[in-house]
Amino acid sequence: MSGDTTEEAARRRTFAVISHPDAGKSTLTEALALHAHAITSAGAVHGKSGRRGVSSDWMEMEQARGISVTSAVLQFPHRGQVMNLLDTPGHADFSEDTYRVLAAVDCAVMLVDAAKGLEEQTRKLFDVCRHRGVPVITFINKWDRPGRDALELLDEIESEFRLKPTPVTWPVGGPGHMRGLVDVRDPDRMLRYTRAPGGAKEAVEEVLDAAEAEQAVGADWEQAVEELSLLRETGGTYDPESFLAGKSTPVFFGAAISNIGVRLLLDAVVDMAPAPGPRPLADGGERPLDAPFSGLVFKVQANMDRSHRDRIAFVRVCSGVFERGMTVTRAATGKPFATKYAHSVFGQDRSSLETAYPGDVVGLVNAGALRVGDTLYAERKAVFPGMPTFAPEHFSVVRPVDIGRTKQFRRGIAQLDEEGVVQVLVSDRRGEQAPVLAAVGPMQFDVVQHRMENEFTAPVRLEPLPYSAARATDAVGAEQLNKSRLVHGEAMHRARDGVWLGLFPSKWHISSFEREFPDSPLEALIAAH
Ligand code: G4P
Repeated sequence: MSGDTTEEAARRRTFAVISHPDAGKSTLTEALALHAHAITSAGAVHGKSGRRGVSSDWMEMEQARGISVTSAVLQFPHRGQVMNLLDTPGHADFSEDTYRVLAAVDCAVMLVDAAKGLEEQTRKLFDVCRHRGVPVITFINKWDRPGRDALELLDEIESEFRLKPTPVTWPVGGPGHMRGLVDVRDPDRMLRYTRAPGGAKEAVEEVLDAAEAEQAVGADWEQAVEELSLLRETGGTYDPESFLAGKSTPVFFGAAISNIGVRLLLDAVVDMAPAPGPRPLADGGERPLDAPFSGLVFKVQANMDRSHRDRIAFVRVCSGVFERGMTVTRAATGKPFATKYAHSVFGQDRSSLETAYPGDVVGLVNAGALRVGDTLYAERKAVFPGMPTFAPEHFSVVRPVDIGRTKQFRRGIAQLDEEGVVQVLVSDRRGEQAPVLAAVGPMQFDVVQHRMENEFTAPVRLEPLPYSAARATDAVGAEQLNKSRLVHGEAMHRARDGVWLGLFPSKWHISSFEREFPDSPLEALIAAH
């Protein structure tokens, strides 16, 4: 059994794509699945405007806005490996969910729009990867469109992220003028692509030797050869050790929409991304892969399927074998949890899952008792470190529309807090009757309003507060802030764990508070308690 577990774990690649909205994450997800033959035609996974598809419609809101607010997992085989691609919500407002997904992956693909370079959301997500020690592979997308110079994009990655870019593929022809790609490991050949109509199928790939490439694309080939030799001289070649240590990033170029460069990226995930390994525990030890089952709940999602009205917990298997029906223990309470309803989940499709190995994701239905950050284990106790939360940027006082529904109101707000839909803050000054909701993105508030009305039958009114930044602090910092409230901001504590947060109207107010009270700690990353 234990030999099986380590062998199966070694075949897993569990990864996510991180990007700024519109960089092409949905398109790339489809292209990856297409290459692995998990789907037969691109457009089947995400139903975005103009594309045929099945959108997961757990809320009308999601359909109306045409964005994906759910998080799910796509599992597909590729070259004898099992790929687990964890979907991250694309919309900027749902970045908190994305952060959590990064706790469950072993590698991330950072998708960069060739015309835009590094964008705000990419920066935030990259910070999370660095913080968590998740190695990053870079894919520079939309090379079929005018954009920025390849070397300039590499410079930006290096200077902004202090991350050495090591190209594994190199474009022949500039952005918008793509003639093909060179696999840097085989630099005397050019890969030429013929796009399938509409991009719905894999692009046809032809291999040209140097003479043929020269003949076919002339000056573009010569320039690519020159650039490649420059790169070799500056030491920009792939180095597994520094990649795994988070110091360098293998870089790929392509166009997800035409499926160009996607196969090479998928192969890179197999060849370069780490397989699941032993997992650090909260007490400083680690859980070996062949220990009895343990898993980390990284997302709890309600109402994915309206006809079920259930709650599903996504669990990343960290050690041992998960078998449907087994009884596991929730570390936080020591209580058993039966896993009769275990599924592998992607979009709206659910299929029963019998067995899962380290790196796989299991969806547990009827998971009302489970919380984000929970550890589940069998036989031998394990507790994984809690998940840090991120400084919220939007704040609103929430009140019930109908005072007669106060009980339902309290129950609903507490539940949404526990699920991690929003953070609920309590201020001594405002009292418990007027909790404050804190979110990374304002759309989290829309989810609260929708669910409070439809699920808890307690419609709410939100009153925005004039703050736009928060920092974790301690009791002394909170007192200082509250004393100088009219100058700097206001302090509140989190209902769930009592952590003090300082709320500030702007980053400028944070600096001015820090100058006046240099001894008060202010942390952007809020530790889990
Ligand atoms: P997201 O999930 O990161 O938000 O991005 P998504 O895949 O939806 O892509 C955003 C837009 O960029 C889409 O265009 C998509 O077609 C386009 N796109 C993605 N990859 C490429 C690429 O390699 N080259 C080019 N030229 N465009 C690409 P849209 O007009 O917003 O949507 P749609 O009508 O095409 O669906």
